[in-house]
Amino acid sequence: MIKGLIFDLDGVITDTAEYHYLAWKSLAEKIGIEIDRAFNEQLKGISRMESLELILQHGNKSEAYTLEEKERLAAQKNEEYKEYIKQVTPADLLPGIAELLRDAREQGIKMSLASASKNAPEIMQRLEIDGLFEGIVDPASLKAGKPDPEIFIRGAELLGLSVKECVGLEDAEAGIESINAAGMFSVGVGSKDAMKEADYAVESTSELDLKTILDKASAK
Ligand code: BG6
Ligand code: MG
Repeated sequence: MIKGLIFDLDGVITDTAEYHYLAWKSLAEKIGIEIDRAFNEQLKGISRMESLELILQHGNKSEAYTLEEKERLAAQKNEEYKEYIKQVTPADLLPGIAELLRDAREQGIKMSLASASKNAPEIMQRLEIDGLFEGIVDPASLKAGKPDPEIFIRGAELLGLSVKECVGLEDAEAGIESINAAGMFSVGVGSKDAMKEADYAVESTSELDLKTILDKASAK
């Protein structure tokens, strides 16, 4: 029986995935690298430094910077990103998410957050939903990020549940891989192609409905 939902944040609960993209695009342009939305799919779900490495590889500039310079570039991206998230309010929950969180609470389904973002606690507070969650996995405490299953396993531990009692929700290919590897039922939000490995996929958060998710997960 499903007793817990473990959420990704960016692109599932709120549209900060767009802000990550805009901030990376602007940083990349400053160092003469062009990125587009198709390329950006690979950046979803992975850490700040890993994202920078992929961008540098894409622009054939992997060897162009020292570690210190790369840390400065990543910090520069984060500064711009933090400017964007200052605007986040409860009105920025993606369609259907407020209802999903409410239904889960009403039915005693516990929730935790499994986001790679170090900015997650601030965003959860700005959305005013941090009180609905049992906990947030600290990405700095992980041995390996998505697609490794560790973050979703830790999300289940925060709830005191087994992975089989939980469902993971994601918009990133790396995230779906992580949920599946954890042995958890995966719900994907996004294009059919990007979400092809998900156990159950929808194209928009507005299609997420607690009863459907629980029925599909129990049927697996
Ligand atoms: C994930 C995003 O949630 O967090 C990635 O999907 C992002 O795009 C990662 O790189 C790390 O975020 P932050 O806020 O710690 O730079
Ligand atoms: Mg995401």
